Amino acid sequence: MNILFIGDIVGEPGRQAVRELIPKIKKREKIEFIIANGENVAGGSGVTPPLADELFGYGIDVITSGDHIWKRKEILDYIESNKRLLRPANYPPQAPGFGSTVVQSESGIDVGVINLTGRVFMQAVECPFRIGKEEVEKLKNRTRIIIIDMHAEATSEKVALGWYLDGLVSAIIGTHTHVQTADEKILPNGTAFISDAGMTGPFDSVIGRKKEQILTRFITQMPARFEMAEGDIQLHGVVLDIDEKTGKANSIKRIQEKLKQ
Ligand SMILES: [Fe+2]
Ligand SMILES: [Fe+2]
Repeated sequence: MNILFIGDIVGEPGRQAVRELIPKIKKREKIEFIIANGENVAGGSGVTPPLADELFGYGIDVITSGDHIWKRKEILDYIESNKRLLRPANYPPQAPGFGSTVVQSESGIDVGVINLTGRVFMQAVECPFRIGKEEVEKLKNRTRIIIIDMHAEATSEKVALGWYLDGLVSAIIGTHTHVQTADEKILPNGTAFISDAGMTGPFDSVIGRKKEQILTRFITQMPARFEMAEGDIQLHGVVLDIDEKTGKANSIKRIQEKLKQ
């Protein structure tokens, strides 16, 4: 089966990209299941219930997240009742929401999704390696197809997780840096891997924000407000071909689609 994984959707431009490009990609790549990181959909930071529903309305089956998930308080009740919106599984167990889920595709295939986050140059959370393996154990009796979103800053931590879980899951896809990496591969035991799927949003920017404001911040070291950028809207992600019987990956392909403006 072909699965589309969409890198961090940023603000209204990102939502416009998924709204307009998903139907095209779905048809061309024969996509049966869509996972997207949605931690930045609300004005570049966080996600609200109406925006999560909007993304589900565009055909996204599971929304993953990361460090920006708690930015909008409105999401706290929603995330407790909707198992298609995930937060990292290695957050403290007392935090609301779920870190993994199993959702059925259009054609009736169960797809497991696990959301993890890194600890290098990020908040101190539980070990993504230990919790990742525990989550795989929980899901593996329900489905062979398991996709992990590893939301992390350091490529080393993402690459290491790839080696650690190779053969136990179908794919490990990195998110969070908003910059797509060119290291997509199938690991020796059949797990697809990429350090970062990239960003879906405005590329005339610094990872989604107005470049002038980011430059002022870097040059002056003074606090500044970061607003959403607008131009050069693109959708970045990967298309995975997963063998339904074994759960192993046949291929992983990077995509970068430009929105005609
Ligand atoms: Fe992000
Ligand atoms: Fe993030």
